[in-house]
Amino acid sequence: MRPFLIDTDTASDDAVALIMALNNSNVEVKAITVVAGNVALEQAVQNALYTVELCEKDVPVYRGAAKPFLRSLETAQFVHGLDGMGDIGLDLSGREPARENAIDIIIETINAHPGTLELVTLGPLTNIAIALLKEPGIASKVKQCTIMGGIGTGHGNITPVSEFNIWVDPEAAQIVFSSGMNIKMVGWDISRNHAYMDEEAVTEVRLINTPIAHFAMDIQRAVNEFATKTSKLPGFDLPDPIAMGIALDDQIATKSITAYAEVILANGITRGQTVIDHNGLIKDRYTIEVVLEASRKAFLSLLHDSLR
Ligand code: RIB
Ligand code: CA
Repeated sequence: MRPFLIDTDTASDDAVALIMALNNSNVEVKAITVVAGNVALEQAVQNALYTVELCEKDVPVYRGAAKPFLRSLETAQFVHGLDGMGDIGLDLSGREPARENAIDIIIETINAHPGTLELVTLGPLTNIAIALLKEPGIASKVKQCTIMGGIGTGHGNITPVSEFNIWVDPEAAQIVFSSGMNIKMVGWDISRNHAYMDEEAVTEVRLINTPIAHFAMDIQRAVNEFATKTSKLPGFDLPDPIAMGIALDDQIATKSITAYAEVILANGITRGQTVIDHNGLIKDRYTIEVVLEASRKAFLSLLHDSLR
């Protein structure tokens, strides 16, 4: 069993990514750590607890950072709905997370599984950055850190050049990118190009006809409205699920490069931009793996398997 730790700002796409990991027979999710992002921390914790309960799994959920390092929290409730789960009336309150702090759990879990622990991040990188500052030595013990974040090629979703997770906490992202950890970045371009859910794709999921398959589509109500009105996509997209898919099965990524990547720490239009050195112009710096293409077919197949 592959030990996973998932860090999430649980909203409608994160929840589907959590289901993909929780329902994968090759993976043991050791912990789910929560960070403020899509919604405030407490709501993200409740959304994660609800999703774990729905999957009937016994995986602990831990509270992490309630805001970015330096900046005030900017949520994406305008995208995912006030509760982050489509505002469809789910009972998303009253569940208790584990008592320990997420940062200590991230450090403990990596140290307990040196060289084998796989980290998947689905939200702003505040928790991971704090853990790395507290114990830099964990960077070399993580087998692979798959990050949903940034832009590999093309335009952004929160500014013309920036992706939301990195934009929320650019300083944290730069600390993580430069930590020496073995990073695989799955940018929003991968979701926009390969994980959009048009009517046909939604119908295919609903035909699975399990409660969890309908749940996975029902909670996308708000983001679907946003996607069709603003992102002008043929339907909502699933950034966290395709990043999770690539973490679960690296064959889903069909093209990637190893490159220097820098996060712009400005304010304004370039805040949180991930500059990828595609042509290797910058020498002698750390590098990360940046996914450039993925298989929509393989992603949807893995998604369907997790919802049966
Ligand atoms: O930009 C997409 C990312 O921001 C996804 O992780 C989504 O859940 C939001 O956190
Ligand atoms: Ca997310």
